[in-house]
Amino acid sequence: MNLTLKIWRQKNAKEKGKMVDYKIDNISPDMSFLEMLDVLNNELIEKGDDPVAFDHDCREGICGMCSLFINGEAHGPDRAITTCQLHMRKFKDGDTIYIEPFRAKAFPVIKDLVVDRTAFDKIQHAGGFVSVNTSGNTQDANSIPIPKHDADRAFDAATCIGCGACVATCKNSSAMLFVSAKVSQFALLPQGKVEAADRVQNMVAEMDALGFGNCTNTGACEVECPKGISLENIARMNREYLKASIK
Ligand code: SF4
Ligand code: FES
Repeated sequence: MNLTLKIWRQKNAKEKGKMVDYKIDNISPDMSFLEMLDVLNNELIEKGDDPVAFDHDCREGICGMCSLFINGEAHGPDRAITTCQLHMRKFKDGDTIYIEPFRAKAFPVIKDLVVDRTAFDKIQHAGGFVSVNTSGNTQDANSIPIPKHDADRAFDAATCIGCGACVATCKNSSAMLFVSAKVSQFALLPQGKVEAADRVQNMVAEMDALGFGNCTNTGACEVECPKGISLENIARMNREYLKASIK
């Protein structure tokens, strides 16, 4: 396939960015999207140009690092996948592909297609954990019976990889889907109940302080989430928040 790429180039966080056109030829439909960018970067390096900066790590849909907005959609035109799992067979010979960073006030651009998602780490630090007694008297986790239905829903919430597609997709740049997944994975399990009230209040306060917008129940986040995190989690987080507020 021969393609035209329109890619957001931005030298650093301070300078203004712009879309730049690149032609790329002989791309195999079996290549992943990131491999196609690798080919482009090799060509740029050979010409002495600055390669396009983009985030990636595992390249198998686990780490949540890859974060491209492709033709106006987080992680591109496919469903329930990350950018690294997107293949060039989703495009046609002669296509023009627009590639931009995830855009949100709380995710400032560092360079080109790389954004700073430290805000998610800060929300996790505010409450996304359980405190465990490690004195040697720790109860074996398997000795606490958990209904299968609860365990399954907690596991589903825990599959959130923190990619930020929900924020990039939301017209309000809301982080509610991410935060609600992190709250839910603990709220559904007995181990998470002890700190439940502090957790939800602290994580929501941090989310608001970092400049994420509010949820207006549009549901775009759920559609674009590569892990199928359900809006049910937002409803659960709202219930947890209400419970904590009237305690
Ligand atoms: S909820 Fe989905 S889209 Fe949002 S950070 Fe988690 S995995 Fe990514
Ligand atoms: S590079 Fe790890 S999820 Fe895409």
